[in-house]
Amino acid sequence: MGYQTIQVDPVTPRIGAMVSGVDLSKPVSNQQYSEIHDALMAHQVIFFRDQDMTLEQQKDLGRHFGELHIHPASPGPEGHPEVLIIHADANSKRVAGERWHSDVSCDPEPPMGSILHLHQVPPSGGDTLFASMYAAYDALSDRMKTYLKGLTATHSGEQVYRGRYADKGVNDAGKVYPTNVHPVVRTHPVTGRKALFVNPTFTVKINEVSRDESEGLLRFLYDFSAKPDFQCRFRWQEKSVAFWDNRCVQHIAMWDYYPQVRSGYRITIKGDRPV
Ligand code: SIN
Repeated sequence: MGYQTIQVDPVTPRIGAMVSGVDLSKPVSNQQYSEIHDALMAHQVIFFRDQDMTLEQQKDLGRHFGELHIHPASPGPEGHPEVLIIHADANSKRVAGERWHSDVSCDPEPPMGSILHLHQVPPSGGDTLFASMYAAYDALSDRMKTYLKGLTATHSGEQVYRGRYADKGVNDAGKVYPTNVHPVVRTHPVTGRKALFVNPTFTVKINEVSRDESEGLLRFLYDFSAKPDFQCRFRWQEKSVAFWDNRCVQHIAMWDYYPQVRSGYRITIKGDRPV
């Protein structure tokens, strides 16, 4: 693909690209937005370095790709409900995204994308790994693809979010977290490519088969989609940005840097019902 206004360097042939030549704290031209979108469609997750964006600029960037999503469980910083605080330090008991997932896949219309900007990073560690669910689907046998065709899975927020933000003062007694059914294989609305869409954080069962068969099948699909062949790994620096497409990517955050601090903001862009 020819880019006129940005430079795009693939991290691996299957997933990930570094984008340079754009300063997200300055006005971004329509052509640059369009090329950033093209790069995201081609590489599924894109990375930027040295971006001195304010939170408002990060939100504006997200709004160019769709409406901003409000997290069903995590409160944002004061006045910014669309912002997810990503923070870990010596007092943390857990961090966001410690298991493979596609963000908030329990929603009826799970987010299209997420943009994470880190302000403080540990001296080493704290990488995020991304896996291409196109590559995982493509690598399945034709027999398995035929078997998966038409299957649906239930995704639930209950086991993920219940009590999760009590330390931030959230009392979720009586709150109902989303539970929704999505196809096991979804077709990306822009690229038309097929992607596996089950993950060990939110998916609780495959609906059309017995419990035993669902557990065995999900275990296989999780192991298969976590193969290093389908992954790239991002080493953060202060002011780096990662922008991923939740419709075709899963990610996992490495918490190998305790008790160091890692901190930033994620904004999330609304998506549509998977088909
Ligand atoms: C997440 O959005 O799941 C967290 C990602 C990260 O902290 O690297």
